[in-house]
Amino acid sequence: ASLLWFDPDADHPCHRFESDGLLATARDADGVQRVVAIGDWATLRRQFPDVPVADRRGQLIAPGFIDLHIHYPQTDVIGSPAEGLLPWLERYTFPHEARFADAAYAGEVARFFWDELQRQGVTTALVFATSHPVSVDALLGEAEARGLRCIAGKVLQDRHSPDGVRDHTEQSLQDTEALLTRWHGRARLGYAITPRFAPSCSDAQMQGAGALAKRYPDVWLQSHVAENVDEVRWVRTLYPHDRSYLAVYGRFGLLRERAVYAHGIYLDADDWALLADTRAAVAVSPTSNLFLGSGFFDYAAARAAGVRLGLASDVGGGMSFSPFATMRAAYTVARAGVRGDGAAKTAVSLSPFDLWWQHTAGAAQALGLAGVVGSLAVGSEADFVVLDPAATPLLARRTAQAESLAQWLFALVMLADDRAVREVHIAGAAPTHSAARPQHARNM
Ligand code: GUN
Ligand code: FE
Repeated sequence: ASLLWFDPDADHPCHRFESDGLLATARDADGVQRVVAIGDWATLRRQFPDVPVADRRGQLIAPGFIDLHIHYPQTDVIGSPAEGLLPWLERYTFPHEARFADAAYAGEVARFFWDELQRQGVTTALVFATSHPVSVDALLGEAEARGLRCIAGKVLQDRHSPDGVRDHTEQSLQDTEALLTRWHGRARLGYAITPRFAPSCSDAQMQGAGALAKRYPDVWLQSHVAENVDEVRWVRTLYPHDRSYLAVYGRFGLLRERAVYAHGIYLDADDWALLADTRAAVAVSPTSNLFLGSGFFDYAAARAAGVRLGLASDVGGGMSFSPFATMRAAYTVARAGVRGDGAAKTAVSLSPFDLWWQHTAGAAQALGLAGVVGSLAVGSEADFVVLDPAATPLLARRTAQAESLAQWLFALVMLADDRAVREVHIAGAAPTHSAARPQHARNM
């Protein structure tokens, strides 16, 4: 097969490619499959002459994709039209999330959710559950059974939320601590303290979340920030004494390593500096930002400040579980010369290496998991996809016409979908998805 992988530690897209390569993996004592060697076929075949080899000529092996922000209970909210974020939350999202108090329902959706993510080539995700503790158990229980790497948390929302999803301050913090004790570090799983967003959390709940974030420094933290102009205006009235929306999170101790904030469209230079200083990361969610009409992410500002970022679907604000759909939307959003509130931004053209990196090794760095997933570097966990560059007539035509690796990968970014995802290998378990299509081996 041809191979695409990344330097796990470089703070910019640093790719490696082998047109005739070999990926060698082995199961460790902990049951997790890890990369033993990756490189050119001839050299590695001499090094490992006796191991069984699966021939994937004509296919591309790449790291499994990482979705840096997604709501599993919004699987059935995709495509609900509304006049922007806040009406969408009130009309569709909150009423639907109320159903996740039912463990059986949550379990059914969790199974569909993982089936769909795996089918699309996503092997690691940072996930919002709902405010109901059973919704976390359903999701992480399913991930554990599949050997997946997943980080998730119970949503905290004790105000400005309707009956059915609104939680109680004290109980919500006790539930959070019980869940993180149960799940964090078990199998390949992690826990994320999850204040929904500043408007939905009282000062006491924010303070409690900050205290837990301090007491458990290796637990993750996730929320939303500066997504929509009406939301930003609302936060200004709720927190008139804070310098900015982001600064509210800082005041409560919620900006730190392993904290991931979705969106971050309406941030200023001081906010970018605050993110960089605290080493908090941003989950760029371009299909969601387009669907909800939220705005266009400012890559130039984020990059100038050196803020860590990665790509995310934000389903169900986002429209697709496909990492290719997300990469396409990211390219489009980066090309825009405006932000969405009248402010200008610098348009940039993201390379296919950059887009791919933001959804794999870059996202892993944002999670503090560099070298663990997302790169296929030696020693890392062997979550990977096998892609067919000839999966559809147009994709086959455009990849065949490519005169450089960049053109070839760009054709995949722009034209691939689930039909190109031939196999998905999960390091924690035997292969769980193999598309039932005939294998037609081709030489590159
Ligand atoms: N802000 C607070 N909650 C949500 C949510 O569920 N989706 C999005 N896109 N933004 C939010
Ligand atoms: Fe979200």
